Amino acid sequence: MSNPKESPNASSPLDRGEQHDVTELHAAVLREKPDPVEGFEPVNLWVVAGIAGLLFWGGSYLTQYSGRFEANEFSEFPHGKPAPVAAVAADPLAAVKRDGMLTYNAVCALCHGEDGAGKAGVAPPLAASDWVNADGPNRLVRIVRHGLKGTVKVNKDVTWNPANDPSIVMGSQWEAIGASNEKLAAVLTYVRTAWGNTGAPVTAQMVADGLAPVKDRSADDNWTQEDLLKVPASGSGAPAVASAAPTPDQIKAQLLALPDDQRQALLKELSK
Ligand code: HEC
Repeated sequence: MSNPKESPNASSPLDRGEQHDVTELHAAVLREKPDPVEGFEPVNLWVVAGIAGLLFWGGSYLTQYSGRFEANEFSEFPHGKPAPVAAVAADPLAAVKRDGMLTYNAVCALCHGEDGAGKAGVAPPLAASDWVNADGPNRLVRIVRHGLKGTVKVNKDVTWNPANDPSIVMGSQWEAIGASNEKLAAVLTYVRTAWGNTGAPVTAQMVADGLAPVKDRSADDNWTQEDLLKVPASGSGAPAVASAAPTPDQIKAQLLALPDDQRQALLKELSK
């Protein structure tokens, strides 16, 4: 009874004590949206777009980098085909040849071509060249060390620079290949085994032995075919050949290959 608004007229059966305007109450009901029910809120469109973008990116990523879902896709030998071990073991020179190929392509290929076929008017072929396929590297090391000029019979079919044009010259390539016996051995090993060539590999020791008699020769003093043919193609280098008794002809050829002063000194000593 203290608050008259709660039951102002409790004695009347029709009066329920309503104090508020009914229209006003309905207006409020019509104006308000129903309370949201958990789980049915609309999702922010940016989130939808973001997820769609991620799905698209994920799909393209899988397409590109899935590796066909093969466990060994990124292994050294993909698709379950290990490199034939025998082939690797059969070529212990693979690393040397690779090194030689890099030097060849960087230095020699400019003139002789990456395929060793030579270039008309620039340089003779190294593929199927008698010089390249010779028994030993003695003449080859000299060609690269001091250069070559004049007419050169490359093989029975090819004679290079038949007109003996003095402007056609191969200068010394010694500095270009890095001025090292190892580099020269590698590049010659590559040249002698590439493009169907059949020369034996060349070791740094063979290069050192081959160049020893001409260590004082100037790099500008290009060889001619005539001078080179006096140098034995093999001999001073390969230990197997060195241990075999040289024939008088080989001794003569080796003597002729010596620089003049060394040969004179040797002859003087022998004639004592
Ligand atoms: C600037 C061009 C040039 C470069 C670089 C060059 N050569 Fe030559 N090469 C020649 C020419 C030209 C001749 C022939 C020279 C002559 O007319 O007597 C020749 C001849 C040769 C020959 C003897 C002929 C033959 O066909 O077998 C050999 C071997 C040879 N070069 C190897 C090499 C090697 C190995 C290199 C790299 C280390 C090299 N050359 C780099 C131009 C070049």
